[in-house]
Amino acid sequence: MDLTTNVTGLQLRNPTILAAGILGSTASSLKRVMSSGAGAVVTKSIGVALREGHPGPVMIQTEHGFLNAIGLANPSYHEFTHELKEAKGEVPVIVSIFGRNAEEFKEVALGLIGAGPDAFELNLSCPHAEGYGASLGEDPNEVEKITRAVKEAVNVPVWVKLPPLTSIVKSGLAAQKGGADAVVAINTLPAMAIDIESRFPVLGNISGGLSGAAIKPVALKCVYDLYAALNIDIIGVGGVSSWRDALEFILAGASAIEIGSAVYEDMDVFRHISEGIARYLQDTGCDLEDVQGAAVR
Ligand SMILES: Cc1cc2nc3c(=O)[nH]c(=O)nc-3n(C[C@H](O)[C@H](O)[C@H](O)COP(=O)(O)O)c2cc1C
Repeated sequence: MDLTTNVTGLQLRNPTILAAGILGSTASSLKRVMSSGAGAVVTKSIGVALREGHPGPVMIQTEHGFLNAIGLANPSYHEFTHELKEAKGEVPVIVSIFGRNAEEFKEVALGLIGAGPDAFELNLSCPHAEGYGASLGEDPNEVEKITRAVKEAVNVPVWVKLPPLTSIVKSGLAAQKGGADAVVAINTLPAMAIDIESRFPVLGNISGGLSGAAIKPVALKCVYDLYAALNIDIIGVGGVSSWRDALEFILAGASAIEIGSAVYEDMDVFRHISEGIARYLQDTGCDLEDVQGAAVR
């Protein structure tokens, strides 16, 4: 069964993509994910300067999913260039980038373009780094400005990753107006855990972002609403761990799905999901295009 799909001009062998921040810091880990069947991979978010990130613990498992506050730890775009060159190969590599403003985003994109990224994903959605991510993604003017600045600077597709807001469509429309080729929905939801014995918040940063199964219904609604309002590609992410989850996102209008937390449970989740989608299409006599957006009323 052919699962080849075109997302913003990139040919993907199947619609599963590694989400940003999961095993995406080195060429060797990106290659490991490629060999486990992903249709494309997104790197860890990369910025202008080296950042150590937040104090630990930076990630915990709760009964509802993972909580993380990594704090945009990254080696800087200078240091990441050689990893990117080495990671290039089997499937498209999308580089997630972040900055404090349009100028920083542009600097990072221009700094990395020589290493041959297949697309950029703008992190306008991280919920736990003051002045970055969601603080920009919640403001449609900033979203439009930053998207346009990167779009004008580089000649590869630009994806914009949005935070899960009730007004996500406003930010999505702003990204589209700024020239985005796709929007990616969603990043983690602001969340926390408290230790009742010590009476301290568990994460070093006090609060962080929730990911995994608990956020799937939220992400699905965001994708559904964006698909109804925008005419660029929508990439769904949040709580996908099975082919059934992936299919829900495709029925809500997603062109592809990114997978994060589930990779920690099953490195071969990409292959398992692709096989399940292929079986479903075969059983129903449909192809991917027939089902994409089919649930949108
Ligand atoms: C440990 C961890 C690190 C993450 N780092 C990033 C990041 O660097 N940039 C980003 O845009 N999203 C980051 N995310 C968010 C994921 O890409 C994804 O949007 C989110 O986890 C929801 O998907 P999931 O439920 O499949 O994990 C991170 C998530 C986790 C769990």
